[in-house]
Amino acid sequence: MATFQSLPGFREFYPEDFSRRKHIFDLWRRTAHVFGFAEYDAPVLEPLELYKAKSGDEIEGQLFSFTDKGGREVALRPEMTPTVCRLVGAKANALKRPIKWFSIAEFYRYERMQKGRDRAFRQLNVDIFGEPGPEAEIELIAFLVQSFCAFGLTEQDFYVRLSDRNLWFYYLEALGLDESRVRAMLVAVDKHEKYGDDAFKAYQEQFGALDPDLKAKVLAFLQIKTFAALELTFASLNSDKLTARLVDWKKLLGGLEAMGLTRFIEVDLGVVRGLAYYTGFVFEAFDRKGELRALAGGGRYDDLVEKLGGPALPAVGFAIGDVTTALLLEQRGLAPVFVSAPDVYCVIGGEAGRKAAFADVQTLRAAGRRVDYPMKEVAFGKQFKLAADSGAKLALIYGEDELAKGVVKIRDLSDRTEHEVPRADVQAVVRDFFM
Ligand code: HAM
Repeated sequence: MATFQSLPGFREFYPEDFSRRKHIFDLWRRTAHVFGFAEYDAPVLEPLELYKAKSGDEIEGQLFSFTDKGGREVALRPEMTPTVCRLVGAKANALKRPIKWFSIAEFYRYERMQKGRDRAFRQLNVDIFGEPGPEAEIELIAFLVQSFCAFGLTEQDFYVRLSDRNLWFYYLEALGLDESRVRAMLVAVDKHEKYGDDAFKAYQEQFGALDPDLKAKVLAFLQIKTFAALELTFASLNSDKLTARLVDWKKLLGGLEAMGLTRFIEVDLGVVRGLAYYTGFVFEAFDRKGELRALAGGGRYDDLVEKLGGPALPAVGFAIGDVTTALLLEQRGLAPVFVSAPDVYCVIGGEAGRKAAFADVQTLRAAGRRVDYPMKEVAFGKQFKLAADSGAKLALIYGEDELAKGVVKIRDLSDRTEHEVPRADVQAVVRDFFM
């Protein structure tokens, strides 16, 4: 008989896996709470049109898309950003600004599978709308850092690479490139880390041989690691745009420094982001050892709300993936150990014992205690082993002797001490034990 397997890249979450995932989501939510972000959700199936040309060629080629029974072209969402732009755009005037929203949701991309890349994965999406200045980036990068620190990770484990598409635009413009050349050069920059010089091929096919001086300048720009080096590079260019942009950089880096986060941040102009809609600062988080694919990515996308039919509304945000986050926690020994133990286990003798126990089981559970008992008749003696194996802290014993005396025996399973309490007092004694 054929065994049915899940589709490649679609994970199944057995309880142990689920508890790990829950741990990640719990800490993401806690971080969102302390940063004052409100949670939202949205449909998993969207009109295909939402992603066409807006997310970029790479994501478009990875869509799980089909025609529904009503003849609509639809796609499983590959990301949240276009959707959240639609949500915010539709109610922009009614929402108090800055709009600080987050969501935890599943996404689908038909990717070539590799470590850290699946076809269904979850992301924490965090976005701020209505704030044009780098104050929003400060808030978001602080959030991004804290979302990893919340698990016990430190600057030894991860870092954030900070870059700026505007800076590239203004710099390449100052070097004499027109807009189409700048865009093609940014595609080359995006690919350079992976492909080296081959990354310039497409540029050369489109615009002819690459001026060696230009190439040298681009490669030198990619090496920049400090704000001071940026200032030095621009000093001779006399570009007002670049000068003004450095003021934004100063504000952003200054804000992060004041928050004590400099140790997590690296200036790295090699990050330009593959998604089509980014317009300004962009950033990505990576593990320090460089063993994993990106942990998170984001940036500013000031035009997208308007392009999707809403008002002009500045926006910036990022998403963290659950797959690489889980791998990093595992590597660092920070994944939680799966524990599924009741607080209380009932040892039950015969029908009368069962009746007596059930009344307490129900009341204890209603009071929030986690209570377990053998569902079927099990020899009385064997139940003590079941109680110990369950990991419970207390055993409540409803044997014939106890019933005859009108008591319940309570055994502390950590030190095996026992005492009897009148049946009417069981609730209070258990409550006090767990206080
Ligand atoms: P992204 O860089 O495409 O950005 O994805 C963000 C993160 O999601 C990645 O760094 C990675 O951890 C995770 N991720 C992406 N694809 C996969 C995959 N196939 N398998 C496992 N994990 C994956 C965005 O999605 C933007 N919409 C983020 C954003 C929010 N920009 C502004 N707001």
